[in-house]
Amino acid sequence: MLSYKHGFHAGNHADVLKHIVLIYLYILVKKHNKSISYIDTHSGNGLYKYISKYMEKNKEYKYGIKKIEKYTGDNKLIKNYLSIIKTISKKNNFYPGSPSIISNISDNNDKLYFCELHNNEFDSLKKNLKKFTNIKNINTDGFEFIEKKLRNDRSYFILIDPSYEIKDDYIKINNFIDNIEKYEKSKILIWYPILSFEDNDRFIENLRKKGIGKMINLELPIKSNKEEMGMKGSGLLIINFKEKIILRDLKALSKELHFYLKQNDDVYNPKVRYL
Ligand SMILES: C[S@@+](CC[C@H](N)C(=O)[O-])C[C@H]1O[C@@H](n2cnc3c(N)ncnc32)[C@H](O)[C@@H]1O
Repeated sequence: MLSYKHGFHAGNHADVLKHIVLIYLYILVKKHNKSISYIDTHSGNGLYKYISKYMEKNKEYKYGIKKIEKYTGDNKLIKNYLSIIKTISKKNNFYPGSPSIISNISDNNDKLYFCELHNNEFDSLKKNLKKFTNIKNINTDGFEFIEKKLRNDRSYFILIDPSYEIKDDYIKINNFIDNIEKYEKSKILIWYPILSFEDNDRFIENLRKKGIGKMINLELPIKSNKEEMGMKGSGLLIINFKEKIILRDLKALSKELHFYLKQNDDVYNPKVRYL
């Protein structure tokens, strides 16, 4: 039984980081490809109203999107993300999830597959995205979907964004990376939370030992190590992207987001590196 509801967290600092990088990479891939086969393994419902029992509970979006909504700096990744979010949510009454963002920036040459296991979230996803014709919503386990349904000889853009409410998700990410050769033609973006810096270092060191080579890791700490509660930050694994400019762009982005989103003075610096 899944109890996680993304509505409690939508628009928080982790969504901001993930969605900025998702948009940036999708547009980068689209520059070189007429069509993209995109898979969101953990889609959520695609649209989160600010006035709702979920978003109002902890108001996490106040420490995420609301901190950069009026951004006047010159980072082009942040500016592009904000302009897309504003176009999707014209009245600014909801925060769009990843399926909604990608549906809006894709075109009819692209085919989008959205996996969501939770029945209620799946029903809402179908309703929220009903105007799009290039999408397929699937009420299934996203890990099983990519494992069983993907053809090894084809290229995909895959977002893997589990909730990590169960420890199994870390094991599944590790297993996925152990089999990464199967996906050598695909572009992959994986999100993960930083709950404790010590556990996170072990997770990353374990991944580093696998010696993948084509894996960029971005980590954005938001809270000081002394804070007892909640997520301390989040990270991304970016796999099979060769463009050199990515590292430079992500370094500039993480520095800017760190400045705007960090919640204490003594927060660790962000990291962007090849593992
Ligand atoms: C972090 S949320 C996704 C947020 C979304 N990607 C976004 O950025 O807007 C994770 C979602 O995955 C769903 N979920 C959990 N386990 C799953 C699985 N094995 N396969 C597919 N969906 C799953 C949860 O119900 C939840 O809606």
